[in-house]
Order: sequence, then C-alpha cells, then structure tokens
Amino acid sequence: MADDRLIVALDVSTMDAMKEIVTSLGDSVSFYKVGMELFYAEGAKTIRFLQEQNKQVFLDLKLHDIPNTVRSAMSVLRTFGIDMVTVHAAGGVEMMREAKKVLGDQAKLVAVTQLTSTSEEDMRDCQNIQTTVSESVVNYACKAKEAGLDGVVCSAQEVKLIKAATSEDFLCVTPGIRPAGSEIGDQKRVMTPQEAHQIGSDYIVVGRPITRATDPVAAYRAIKAEWVNG
Ligand code: C5P
Repeated sequence: MADDRLIVALDVSTMDAMKEIVTSLGDSVSFYKVGMELFYAEGAKTIRFLQEQNKQVFLDLKLHDIPNTVRSAMSVLRTFGIDMVTVHAAGGVEMMREAKKVLGDQAKLVAVTQLTSTSEEDMRDCQNIQTTVSESVVNYACKAKEAGLDGVVCSAQEVKLIKAATSEDFLCVTPGIRPAGSEIGDQKRVMTPQEAHQIGSDYIVVGRPITRATDPVAAYRAIKAEWVNG
C-alpha cells in the first residue's frame, strides 16, 4: 500500500499536464492535491479523473467568505466525494463551523492558518498582527479546533506547539517541505521531509520539488524515503 500521508500538489493548469504527472508517478502516489489553478481551469473533471485512478483527493480551495456563502460552496464540494478540503481560519469560527456542519464526516476539513509563504514581517505589515507567526498560527489552530475542524494546514515548524495547544490527534498538514539543498522558491517557513516526520506532521504536501524535478519519480522516491524513515 502506498504511503497516503505524502500528498503531491498538482500545481498545473491543464488536464494534460495533470495526467502527465499522475501517469509518470504511477502507483507509488495515492494522494494528490488539486488547488485553485487546476480546479479553476478544468473543474470537477480533475477530481473524477483522480478518483478513477483510485487516488485520494485533497481539494485545496482555501474557502474564505461569509458563513452563508462558505456553507453553500461546501454543500457543493461535499458531493465530489473528496477526502480533504480547506478553508481559511481567518474567516472566523462561525464560518468554519458552518463549513464543518455541511461537510460532516464526508471529508477531513482543515483550516489554513498562516500560509507557509508568510514571514513574520509580512504578517505584521500586511495583516497588522503584532505577535509572532507561531502565536498567530496557534491561535488560529485553537479557533479551528473550537469550530470542530479536523486540523490545520501549517508549517512543520509549528506542529509541536499546535498539538500541545489542541490535541495530539488534531491533524497538522504541512506544506513548505524542501529536501535539504533544494530550491526554496516563494516558501519561507520550510522544513525537510525528515524533520517534518520527526516533529510529528500528519501529512506533508510537496509540489515543485517533485513536479518540477527533471526526474519526478526519483524525486518522489527520495522524499518519500526521508519522510517514511524519518
Ligand atoms: O511547490 P510547493 O511544494 O511549495 O507547493 C506547496 C503547495 O502547498 C502549494 O500548492 C501551495 O498552494 C500549498 N500551500 C502552502 N502553504 C499553505 C497552504 C497550502 O504552500 N499554508
């Protein structure tokens, strides 16, 4: 059985590009993330394709709107039979609660806290939050827990604090994963797959280090080995 806690981000904008990645990675990958770019371009057929290939789907649309709108949107998404979906914790407890109410146990609902591309400076300047990023992330995690969500999306750097403030089984889904020596790109709060494993991340999300590698299968295998063996 493939390791379903390593989620590969399909950050491409066409079905053809998606199929190429999924075909080249074959049976080894069982969990994919469909984000805004792909979903806005190609819609729900991306999800159907992945499900036909027996893949699990994390639909990362990061919903953030008034509670009524998010509830309505979530009632559509729940019909897709996806496995994981995101809202922004900044949308508030009521918004998250409404989303969870509609979704029920159909899929794991996780809240984005502070994006892993956000630095402390960005957060202070743009969001006018004058704490540390970790404090802000833990605060959002507590709000997500209060709203009944299954977990949060965060940097692996914050996992320990979040688990301590919520509970051990509160899921920490961590993007911003970079194998040692690889390009960081726009991510700021990064960790290696090995560090993420050791620190207790429940799922890691990896995009460019796999999908833009010259040999995606080799890159996937190397990351998976680091992640699984810790
Ligand atoms: O290419 P890379 O590995 O940086 O991709 C990370 C993926 O995780 C992207 O699809 C990005 O949208 C997503 N993500 C993130 N930080 C968050 C939430 C999601 O990087 N807090």
